[in-house]
Amino acid sequence: MSPIGSKTVRQVTDEIAHVLSAADVPSPVADARELIAFVLKIPKNRLALVTWITVDLEAKIRMLADRRAQRIPLQYLTGSAPFRYVELAVGPGVFVPRPETELLVGWGLDAIAGQSRPLVVDLCAGSGAIAVAVATEHPGAVVVAVERSADALPWLRRNAAATSVRIVEGDAVSPATVPDLDGHVDAVLSNPPYVPLGTPVSPEVADHDPPAAVFADHDGLGVIRGLVTRAAALLKPGGVVAIEHDDTHGSAVPDLLRASGAFTEVADHDDLTGRPRFATARRLAD
Ligand SMILES: C[S@@+](CC[C@H](N)C(=O)[O-])C[C@H]1O[C@@H](n2cnc3c(N)ncnc32)[C@H](O)[C@@H]1O
Repeated sequence: MSPIGSKTVRQVTDEIAHVLSAADVPSPVADARELIAFVLKIPKNRLALVTWITVDLEAKIRMLADRRAQRIPLQYLTGSAPFRYVELAVGPGVFVPRPETELLVGWGLDAIAGQSRPLVVDLCAGSGAIAVAVATEHPGAVVVAVERSADALPWLRRNAAATSVRIVEGDAVSPATVPDLDGHVDAVLSNPPYVPLGTPVSPEVADHDPPAAVFADHDGLGVIRGLVTRAAALLKPGGVVAIEHDDTHGSAVPDLLRASGAFTEVADHDDLTGRPRFATARRLAD
């Protein structure tokens, strides 16, 4: 017999998904399951094993669902975001890592796979998603993470605490940041701000992602232009760069890499939805 007032996981999922759907949350069922699993303190794939949700736990789930219905990012409510093989702590002040960046990291890891101690620099590190993933999946790599936001840095420090990642507070496009690494780096990986100012974005992005993490000038290329120059200076001959970009920049960013004259093997790559998402290149010898 069920405890008084308890509901099944299915009932609660349907009711919460209905609340989220009415608030135009893009994936109401997935988010409902995520919040239920979070409150029950179990992985999502164990939900099928739960028979009843008590009144107390349902109240906690509903409280979180109401906040999600206000379009607060799901990951801010659970306090963590999955990224490849790691879980990153996230909250107000830091950009929530996105699945598309996992592909850029995969490309970077393939590029350094044969090297026992590659030097990798993550420019615009945010929560540390790229840096921490690389350090975790290529334990021999020496990883440096550059970030300038005072709000993001505590999250970066927290996420990198159990790794060997070196954190540098500074402007990723300035030649004065990590000048000691110029000409020594095997891979520069970056997911910078790249959305053109004025682009319509979801309430989660507009009201919660830090603007400096999302937007970069009217054409969205304000930071990327500087990154191309900085990557050329940091990389050793044969070193590689990967830069995530807006889906409208599948030609513009490869063109910037070619125009710099410092790179060969310039290519662009799609994300999981088939949209142009990151550009890569290899440093030529001077
Ligand atoms: C799109 S977020 C990416 C964060 C992380 N790399 C990821 O993939 O989740 C961009 C980050 O770049 C930082 N940023 C923007 N301009 C910067 C600059 N000139 N120098 C260093 N960091 C910068 C922002 O504070 C933000 O944390």
